Amino acid sequence: MTESICHYADLAGKRIFITGASSGIGAGMAEVLAEQGCDLVLHYHQNQQGIEKTLETVLASGIRAEVVQGDFRNLDLVQSVFDQAWSKFAGLDGLVNNAGVVTKSLSLKDVEGRAFQETLAVNLQAPYLLSTAFAEACKKQQLPGNIVNNSSIHGQATCEWFSAYAASKAGLDALTKVQAVEWGKLGIRVNSLAPGVVPVERTFDVLYQPKMQKKWVSAMPAGRYGTVQDMGMATAFLLSKASEWMTGSVLTLDGGLIARGHYPYRD
Ligand SMILES: NC(=O)c1ccc[n+]([C@@H]2O[C@H](COP(=O)([O-])OP(=O)(O)OC[C@H]3O[C@@H](n4cnc5c(N)ncnc54)[C@H](OP(=O)(O)O)[C@@H]3O)[C@@H](O)[C@H]2O)c1
Repeated sequence: MTESICHYADLAGKRIFITGASSGIGAGMAEVLAEQGCDLVLHYHQNQQGIEKTLETVLASGIRAEVVQGDFRNLDLVQSVFDQAWSKFAGLDGLVNNAGVVTKSLSLKDVEGRAFQETLAVNLQAPYLLSTAFAEACKKQQLPGNIVNNSSIHGQATCEWFSAYAASKAGLDALTKVQAVEWGKLGIRVNSLAPGVVPVERTFDVLYQPKMQKKWVSAMPAGRYGTVQDMGMATAFLLSKASEWMTGSVLTLDGGLIARGHYPYRD
């Protein structure tokens, strides 16, 4: 376990639902939020071993944690996943829409749009349904709420192979802004994180190959990959009072990767 650098005292006892917490960034967010004293509802899809590991890690922080399961390709199931999460601790203070699929598919290899549709279901439609269910439940109980969407720099700058993924993440950034506008008067904040390259179990082998690492890291002014702890700390910030005036924002965390653009290198 890594110690969180900042402590947001107002997060203690906050009930947060994190989707896709069985590996990678979601597991890192869970670990950091547990260190901040949040009670957690952790979602997974298939990786049971992964979610058990996350559960064990977060429980070591002395918080309460529960698990829910669901495949977001089946949008008919999303409301019931949300209802289970809401009932675990008799309500929720925050929702982190992190679950997602990183689809690499050339448009001409997906002429019927199957990969495109599946990607939009998991990365955009499920967050829409979860956030809307959360806002409705908060409104009924006249409670404030806080939503963090895990988007991607592909929502802002992208490349070949990513039509489905980039469309889903640009859509998620737009959804963040619209829902922030619609729900501001309810006391519900909605913000996005837009990460760059964060090595996770799924990508360790490729991203830590020396040639590949050099190529990526040299393009990042900050000189390193992101970590799941970077993502966890940014999530804690967005869920805390420290960011009270932020809503409808897309917070880019990419070590400066997309700020640089494609200008020639100068000495
Ligand atoms: N890592 C990066 O560099 C990076 C950069 C930008 C954005 N992101 C975003 O960060 C989020 C997490 O990705 P990650 O990199 O941490 O990858 P990851 O380790 O593969 O995590 C993906 C999570 O999403 C869940 N998931 C996948 N398909 C699902 C489905 N059909 N229904 C419900 N849940 C599903 C997975 O659950 P199971 O494993 O249990 O099936 C897993 O918990 C994604 O939204 C991704 O787009 C990542």
